[in-house]
Amino acid sequence: MCGIVGYTGGGQAAPILLDGLEKLEYRGYDSAGVCVQDGGGLKVAKAKGRLSHLSALLEGGKALQGTTGIGHTRWATHGAPSDENSHPHIADSGKIAVVHNGIIENYQKLKERLLAAGKRFHSETDTEVAANLIEYFYDQGFDFKMSVRKAVERLEGSYALGILCRDCPGVVIAVKHESPLVFGFGKGCNYIASDVPALLKYTREVCYLSDGDMVLFTDREAHFFDAAGDPVVRTPEHIGWDASAAEKAGYPHFMLKEIYEQPKAVRDTLSPRLRDGEIALDDVRLPADYLRSLRRVYAVACGSAYYVGVQSKYILEKLCKLPVEPVLASEFRYADPVLGEDTLVIILSQSGETADTLAALREAKARGARTLAIVNVVGSSIARLADDVLYTWAGPEIAVATTKAYSTQLAVVYLLALSIARQLGTVDGARFEALYAQLERLPDLLEQVLDRRTVAQLQYDASRYFHNRDVFYIGRKLDSATCLEGSLKLKEIAYLHSEAYAAGELKHGPISLIEDGTLVVALATEPAMFDKTVSNIREVKSRGAEVLGLTIERLGEELQKTVDSALLIPETDPLFQPSLAIVPLQLFAYYMALMRGCDVDKPRNLAKSVTVE
Ligand code: G6P
Repeated sequence: MCGIVGYTGGGQAAPILLDGLEKLEYRGYDSAGVCVQDGGGLKVAKAKGRLSHLSALLEGGKALQGTTGIGHTRWATHGAPSDENSHPHIADSGKIAVVHNGIIENYQKLKERLLAAGKRFHSETDTEVAANLIEYFYDQGFDFKMSVRKAVERLEGSYALGILCRDCPGVVIAVKHESPLVFGFGKGCNYIASDVPALLKYTREVCYLSDGDMVLFTDREAHFFDAAGDPVVRTPEHIGWDASAAEKAGYPHFMLKEIYEQPKAVRDTLSPRLRDGEIALDDVRLPADYLRSLRRVYAVACGSAYYVGVQSKYILEKLCKLPVEPVLASEFRYADPVLGEDTLVIILSQSGETADTLAALREAKARGARTLAIVNVVGSSIARLADDVLYTWAGPEIAVATTKAYSTQLAVVYLLALSIARQLGTVDGARFEALYAQLERLPDLLEQVLDRRTVAQLQYDASRYFHNRDVFYIGRKLDSATCLEGSLKLKEIAYLHSEAYAAGELKHGPISLIEDGTLVVALATEPAMFDKTVSNIREVKSRGAEVLGLTIERLGEELQKTVDSALLIPETDPLFQPSLAIVPLQLFAYYMALMRGCDVDKPRNLAKSVTVE
């Protein structure tokens, strides 16, 4: 979703802005623009389409001289992708330039008032309202900072803003409310960006702005203010990972790199918490008394993180005997959920900034539930707001379609379930030890799944099926939850219609869509459910489906008798099997997308971090 970069210092701004925007391309966008200040003037260049197009227009930045600037990649919300709707937006009299991430919900009302006051508009965006509103106060004699403050007080919705004023060369003001914004401390220069990768080439000293924060900065100074306008101190945090973690490192796509990083990411997530035969959940305190008082657990998230929530239902209910309800965050926030002190709300999010998930977390807290976040981005809004946090140590995830964040979230759910079960005494010692041992082995087993033969087979299968129109994913219990994620991957990056169904439910409707050649991906990894799923496979086979089956090595021969192609994965406890089963489905979607000529890392219409509702 929209990306913001801002810079002021001794160097030329445009090349730095374009470079930073390139690092934010992963967020998803449809147009890009920069505004650079040279002495007094505000010079803007913006264009619909890829950033490379804008960069070519600006000869890599050389064509736009100036040492202060703001830049933007836009993901359209108000008004179609077009040159006019692209940011930065310049206010009517040309004194204020603004880039914006988020949605200004009361923009229509504000626009009417500004029109009545004589301001003219040239785009359909909500952002132009912010630019004109700031300029409206500036025209009344307020200084740059006070004009921004007065405008922001009137904005409703979510926003991260980067702002320049024609009369204040060398000064940038940025404001954050419910959309992410990071400040970068440089030497003789300073930066803002929507995310750290945009800054890593220039500085590792950053601070994540809090909601309500405003920062006014020049090349040598940065003044921070809280929502009340009072000065506050924001200290730099050192970013440990380097720029190479956010580079492709020889892989053709970030997604493929991130798929291959899964054994390491899962190891990094599990191993510090598997200590001397016990589960160590960082600083999270879930005392046995509290756990015994729990009546209900919600797992709340969006997208793939929600599908980890669906997995968590099977895992926590089986191991901890606690009722778990997975709920989509966009529904949860308005659904009037039954919450109280006897409710634990688990919030799952890679970015820690997803607007609906953040709102659901606020709702849960307001209603008195205890909240535990499983988050990848350290210091993100969700991580800071939740009562407890368990980080997934996946490292930066750049491809829009998540892989390693999903896998590490699953790993944290295993740790959490085992820890709770241990305290509640819902698993006996021998079962705990067996599960613990399986968890320790999981990263090695993930490496085996990424074996060259499996990958070659998946490439071959993709080459056979990439022309298909519809794909169905079926499985039972945990396999059905894995199907949801496998099917989402295919939709996201290969633009293929696909549905995931609990195998036993297929005959209640979707089986009518099966015809000669329809592809069905069938997961049968749980031995106890194997025969049941094979019966469902026979049902689709007898209606003409082509079936790509997936099971554990021990059951491979049996499955091969029924399916057209069988994928085999190593065996672990059925509760942990989804960690291994998802990897071939990720690779299958990846190779299908390649064969269909899709832009794997930046799929159309999608954003990595969905910071608007
Ligand atoms: C977007 C991404 C998905 C992600 C979802 C939730 O749709 O494309 O990959 O699962 O948002 O994001 P979060 O950062 O909250 O996990």
